[in-house]
Amino acid sequence: MKNILTKEIQNYINANLKTDLHSLLLKKSPFPEVSMLEIVQQIKGRKVADKKFPFLLKENIVFPPNLNLEQASSQATALFKATNLKGKKFLDLTCGFGIDAFFLSDNFVEVTLVEQNTELLETVQHNWNILGRKANFINENLEIFLNRSTEKFDLIYLDPARRDDEKNKKFLLEDLSPNLLEIQERLLDAGKEVIIKLSPLVDISYLISVLKGLSEIKIIAAKNEVKELLVVLNHGKEKPDVKISCYNLESTEPSFSFNFNEEKNAHSEFSEPLKFLYIPNNAVLKSGAFNLISKKLGVKKLHPNTHFYSSDVLEEAFPGRILSVDIIESKQIKKGEKFNIISKNYPLTPDEIKKKYKISDGGTCYLIFTQSRKGKIILKSL
Ligand SMILES: C[S@@+](CC[C@H](N)C(=O)[O-])C[C@H]1O[C@@H](n2cnc3c(N)ncnc32)[C@H](O)[C@@H]1O
Repeated sequence: MKNILTKEIQNYINANLKTDLHSLLLKKSPFPEVSMLEIVQQIKGRKVADKKFPFLLKENIVFPPNLNLEQASSQATALFKATNLKGKKFLDLTCGFGIDAFFLSDNFVEVTLVEQNTELLETVQHNWNILGRKANFINENLEIFLNRSTEKFDLIYLDPARRDDEKNKKFLLEDLSPNLLEIQERLLDAGKEVIIKLSPLVDISYLISVLKGLSEIKIIAAKNEVKELLVVLNHGKEKPDVKISCYNLESTEPSFSFNFNEEKNAHSEFSEPLKFLYIPNNAVLKSGAFNLISKKLGVKKLHPNTHFYSSDVLEEAFPGRILSVDIIESKQIKKGEKFNIISKNYPLTPDEIKKKYKISDGGTCYLIFTQSRKGKIILKSL
């Protein structure tokens, strides 16, 4: 690592930030002490940092290999997760590149970071030194650390790694490193609060059935893409009242929270389309609060199988897109016009709709093809 920090190599990296990395890799390194691969890795790191963690765009910051950059959280989600966290002792058992740890531990007095990957932890230690942040850096397998440590922590954080990359596979906690089911009792013993970041693919009912001391699940989306689930475990917490909170960061949409059992007892009211159409954001869709959202916000569902809602009076607290709409006849759609097309619970896909009506994507107006309980309908936003 020291080699890439020399002035000449740092200058070379800065001069090549816009160079095509594939062609650079084919060249011979001008410096005998570092390979071109190491140089390209640093350039790649800065490019990723520019979008994902801009606080690291500082002189002499060192970046790890791609896998660790990909596995690291973004600055935006880490900052969000850090809201209201403070205490004396913070422990991150899966430090990785330390992005989460950097923000989550900001209001703690003593910070301990555990990571099994020696080189990665050395990189984090070097960077934290440059950033003026102190921590106990422990290069160890976290299970071994937990077995030997007698310390108690105010907050323990984990962001487990996937053991394999098989997509489409049912997401189970056993597939993670560490296996949370094996260590959860020990975690609750060592920490007043335990926060775990999980993939958005994991099923919420499954989590509720297998996790001990579960008090809250936060569903975190950014720009309507669900990025992560955050589970909060508390020592001695009795199930079954688990709070579910839905957030859509980088949007103006309000958050939405409820207790998991509330949804089981809620029923939607239905109506034909009224003045306003509501499309829940993906965090709410992930939460499954399809009836509760109707009950809590007084908006009416259009159809049992489509999560579209409607009301005559604007409900600004709705967590999702709100459109002012009219019902139209298909003959009112003019050839050559541009629309944002949404098709849900409708026999034609957006591409088939474009072909049929000779319209194209674009413009500011929405055309929504769906069904109410009376049958197929087309809605046009004003
Ligand atoms: C998804 S990454 C964490 C990323 C981190 N939250 C960040 O923002 O940069 C998971 C890390 O946990 C480490 N890890 C996984 N299992 C571990 C274990 N049993 N003991 C110690 N570290 C482990 C991996 O080496 C990896 O660096």
